[in-house]
Amino acid sequence: MMVKGASGIVAADVQTILDDVGTAMDSLRGTTLLVTGGSGFLCSYFVETIAALNARREGPPCRLIVVDNLRTGTASRLAHLADRADIQFVQQDVSAALDLGETVDWIIHGASIASPTFYRRYPLETIDANVTGTRRLLDLAREGVRSVLYLSTSEVYGDPDPAFVPTPEEYRGNVSCTGPRACYDESKRLAETLCTIYHQLYSVPVKIARPFNVYGPRQRLDDRRIIPDLMQCVLHRQNLVLYSDGRVTRAFCYISDAVRAFWRLLLSDANGEVFNVGNDEETSIQGLADTLSAVAAEVIGPPRLPVERRVSEDAQYLTDNPQRRCPDLRRLRGRFPWEPRVPLVEGLAQTLRSYLDVSP
Ligand SMILES: NC(=O)c1ccc[n+]([C@@H]2O[C@H](COP(=O)([O-])OP(=O)(O)OC[C@H]3O[C@@H](n4cnc5c(N)ncnc54)[C@H](O)[C@@H]3O)[C@@H](O)[C@H]2O)c1
Repeated sequence: MMVKGASGIVAADVQTILDDVGTAMDSLRGTTLLVTGGSGFLCSYFVETIAALNARREGPPCRLIVVDNLRTGTASRLAHLADRADIQFVQQDVSAALDLGETVDWIIHGASIASPTFYRRYPLETIDANVTGTRRLLDLAREGVRSVLYLSTSEVYGDPDPAFVPTPEEYRGNVSCTGPRACYDESKRLAETLCTIYHQLYSVPVKIARPFNVYGPRQRLDDRRIIPDLMQCVLHRQNLVLYSDGRVTRAFCYISDAVRAFWRLLLSDANGEVFNVGNDEETSIQGLADTLSAVAAEVIGPPRLPVERRVSEDAQYLTDNPQRRCPDLRRLRGRFPWEPRVPLVEGLAQTLRSYLDVSP
């Protein structure tokens, strides 16, 4: 059954996620899941997955509590689920005391300011969400939960030594503690430390995921990350503008591939362990722009939009920008029957189609 109100592409992706995780999802039935940051891009897919699971009516529903302060998330993203009895939306900051008045069985902690433009604008709030917020959730988890998934980031590696690209989980990182990205990178690192300590001291069953550049439908076009920026250019039929020489690399992971991995981690016994989550198809930013230009010509029609380089007015725009980023996925692949399935070309086409669905 398709999720009511989710666009066709999102609904199909959610279906893929449910089918892939399969009967393991049944352990969520009759239990309560807390998702923080659920009104954001990535965590909204957890909400959609539960909405679709419950719509199947094959057993008791999973009760879902979504906590989000809407700092970068939007209520409109999940407005179609606002009246659902099985989902409760709580508008709150995770760094403040959280009194839910009930016990929870599962926690996915994804609340954070995640876009470089916004975490640089709100550095202290970013640290609060990642450090105080994570500690509060770990304290809640101490009361007795079945599993916790913490969404960390590939930014814990900073600008990795090229000898460690693709980057394995053991790599300790090359991170500035005073640079413009430090509020995010360092607070995510400390959050991982907190997770590890709570696992060691109190046996909190926490799993740490390090997502690498996840993209897809429903990412805000004004999010200021590279794919939304380039999508905006495409939607306005303008040149694709890069504010760099285009040589740095990233490995972009389509949303359904990442969320399939996240559910598997939450529902596993990998307590206290850390996993890279992403796609290891490394591409330069120039390559990304060229690919999107070709995809747009295919999806929308010619002409093919040129790629243009400019210098950002923001002097700090490229400071500490990682030069290469690509995950070593051997740990995830070795542990789970999981593989990224959506190549960049296909994921970009799906994402573009989703924006065209809602574009005038
Ligand atoms: N998308 C990616 O490529 C990526 C990569 C690495 C890590 N992550 C992590 O995944 C998570 C989700 O990222 P996203 O890309 O969906 O970003 P997003 O901005 O779309 O979602 C983050 C959500 O957290 C909420 N939030 C922020 N601070 C909060 C606070 N103090 N209290 C409650 N809610 C708060 C925001 O309102 C938003 O809804 C983040 O923790 C991010 O660090 C994402």
